[in-house]
Amino acid sequence: MNKKYNIAVVGATGAVGQMMVRILIERKFPINNLYLLASKKSDGKIIKIEGDDYKIKSLDGFDFKKVDIAMFSAGGDISEKYASIATQSSAIVIDNTSFFRYVDNIPLIVPEVNGEKISEYKETGIIANPNCSTIQMLVAIKPIHDICRIKRINVCTYQAVSGSGNIAIEELHNQVNAYVKKEKLVNNVYPKQIAFNVIPQIDKFMDNGYTKEEMKMVWETKKILDNNIEVNPTTVRVPVFFGHSEAVHLELEKKITAKEVKNILGSERSGVVLVDEHKDGGYPCAANECEDSNEVFVGRVREDISTKYGINMWVVSNNIRKGAAYNSVQIAELLIRDYL
Ligand code: A2P
Repeated sequence: MNKKYNIAVVGATGAVGQMMVRILIERKFPINNLYLLASKKSDGKIIKIEGDDYKIKSLDGFDFKKVDIAMFSAGGDISEKYASIATQSSAIVIDNTSFFRYVDNIPLIVPEVNGEKISEYKETGIIANPNCSTIQMLVAIKPIHDICRIKRINVCTYQAVSGSGNIAIEELHNQVNAYVKKEKLVNNVYPKQIAFNVIPQIDKFMDNGYTKEEMKMVWETKKILDNNIEVNPTTVRVPVFFGHSEAVHLELEKKITAKEVKNILGSERSGVVLVDEHKDGGYPCAANECEDSNEVFVGRVREDISTKYGINMWVVSNNIRKGAAYNSVQIAELLIRDYL
């Protein structure tokens, strides 16, 4: 008989947590018991996913002894407090927060890029899931880096509000409604209105003037793909519900043509979907390609006309799926395939 596993989702009422459950079901993950955990205030609450009812339990006091894999997405402070409780009960933790990402002996995994590093989880029992904007960029550039070394990346992101959770989705909805009704716009999640606006700040400011989201792209690219790659990021929040977009400018070691890049990315093995036609709409967009899709889409591939060895491209993916929940489920799939 095929083995089945006990899975806990921590933060199961949240945007990412609910998507984790959906994707586990979509992928027919072999589940024995599924424990959906959230804060005390949600204890006993029923949520509907794919037409079925699921009962939420309080994380506080939950016994992780009965769990094989615990997927955390309830914020860094919750991971800080509860991940070790889970691992002491011998559950393996897949953590979607940034809390463990930069710890040396904790693997930070994008299965298409460094899946083989999962084995390093054995030291701590924890695997970290990278930042959404880093995941989609690395999936898109890894096949190029394998052929022609990338020296430097200039990237500008256009990130959806769902990356800040359900409260941010609600804030954009409310502001759009208020705008249409000519009422006052209220902002609690973001420092300025997000409806009909573009905000050049994601996460807090660091001492060097970059935001933490920007530095995550720097640190995580080095840890996951190649420590020698320099990254120059600007991360921007836009009034889109789902799907991050990125203008990525690569500086390469030698000449590679746009045609060669398209051949690499267009091949079935590349792990990306190339949507690149020189006609109106011949490129991927968040509101079109990303809905309910786990893929990373690439378009607008072209040679940089301002420098010798440069390639530009446009990368789009659903931040809640590939940027978070799907990547975590892929990690869980590798775990049960090779280690459990
Ligand atoms: P709850 O709904 O009970 O507050 P999002 O990222 O969409 O904002 O979701 C955050 C998730 O983290 C929710 O599932 C939320 O549960 C959960 N969460 C927040 N605080 C706690 C806590 N103290 N213990 C457990 N889960 C928490």
